[in-house]
Amino acid sequence: MDSVTRLGVVGCGLMGSGIAEVAARNGLDVRVAEATHDAAETGRRRLTASLDRGVERGKLTEEQRDHTLARLTFTHDLGDLADRQFIVEAVAENREVKTEVIRALDKAVEDPFAILATNTSSIPVVDLAVATQRPGQVIGMHFFNPVPVQRLVELIPALTTSADTERRTRDFAEQLGKRTVRAPDRAGFVVNGLLIPYLLSAVRMVESGGARPEDIDQGMELGCAHPMGPLRLIDLIGLDTAQAIAESMHEEFKEPLYAPPALLRRMVTAGHLGRKSGRGFYMYGDR
Ligand code: CAA
Repeated sequence: MDSVTRLGVVGCGLMGSGIAEVAARNGLDVRVAEATHDAAETGRRRLTASLDRGVERGKLTEEQRDHTLARLTFTHDLGDLADRQFIVEAVAENREVKTEVIRALDKAVEDPFAILATNTSSIPVVDLAVATQRPGQVIGMHFFNPVPVQRLVELIPALTTSADTERRTRDFAEQLGKRTVRAPDRAGFVVNGLLIPYLLSAVRMVESGGARPEDIDQGMELGCAHPMGPLRLIDLIGLDTAQAIAESMHEEFKEPLYAPPALLRRMVTAGHLGRKSGRGFYMYGDR
C-alpha cells in the first residue's frame, strides 16, 4: 500500500472530529462512523463549525472548506467502513467500548492489509490488538488536542505490532502533516507520563490552598512560556479524561504522584468537567 486514500474514523467527538478534519483537509476520502444517526449529525456540525472558524480566521477559503466537506461522509453503521485502507478509532475512553469497536472493525474491513489504529490514551494497545484476528496490524496512534493545531502524534507499537504496520502508520501521520515520536506501550506513553503528574500537582496546589488557579496558570504562562497554564489545560483536556488517564497510570505503576487528588474526583462527580461542560477550574460561556 502506498499513501492512504480511504480513511475511516470511528467516533466524532473532540478527537475524532479533529482527526477527520485534518485528514479531509489533506485530501483524503474520509468516512466517519458514530454510534447513532444523531451522534453522527452532531459530529458533522462540530466539524463544519471548525471549518467555518477556519474560514473566518482566514486559514482556508470557502472553496477549500466546501471541497473538504465534500470529502467527508458520515454513517452510523461500521459496515460502511468495509472498503477503508486505514481506520483510526477515537471512541470514548472505555475499555469495553473500544474492544467491541476494534473487534467489529476487524470483521467489517475487507482489506486484509488494512491497519486499525487506536487513539487510546490509557488502555494498553496490546489488549486491543489481541481482540482481533490481525494483531500485527493494530497500533496506537495518539493525537493531541486540538488536533488541527498540535503537530505531534505518538506512535505506540504493541508487542504484537509488525514493523511494516509501524512504518506505514508513520508514513500516514506524515501524510497528515504530523510529526511522530515512538512511545512504549505502557500507561501514559511519553507525553502523558510527564504531563499528568504536572497537572495533578497543580490541582493539589489549589486543593491545599497553596495558590489560586489564576496565579498558578499565569506563573507557568509568563514564567515558563507555556501556551496555557496547567488548570486551563486540564479544563481543555476534560477533568474526567485526565482522571481516567491518571487512574490507569496509578493502577500500572502504583506511584502516589499519579493518584487523582480528591478535589479532581469531587469536581468530576459534580459534573465540572472543564470546557466541555461549561465549568471546571474556570467558567466557559462560549463552548
Ligand atoms: N482548530 C483549529 N485551529 C485552532 C483551534 C482548533 N480547535 N484552536 C486554536 N486554533 C488555532 C487558531 O486558529 C490560531 O492559529 P493562528 O495563530 O495561526 O491564527 C492558534 O491555534 C491559536 O489559537 P487562539 O489564538 O484562538 O488561542 P491561543 O493562542 O490561546 O491557543 C491553543 C490555543 C492552541 C489551545 C494553545 O493554548 C495551546 O496550544 N495550548 C496547549 C494545548 C495542549 O497542551 N494540548 C495537549 C493536551 S494533552 C492531549 O491532548 C493528550 C491527552 O491524552 C490528554
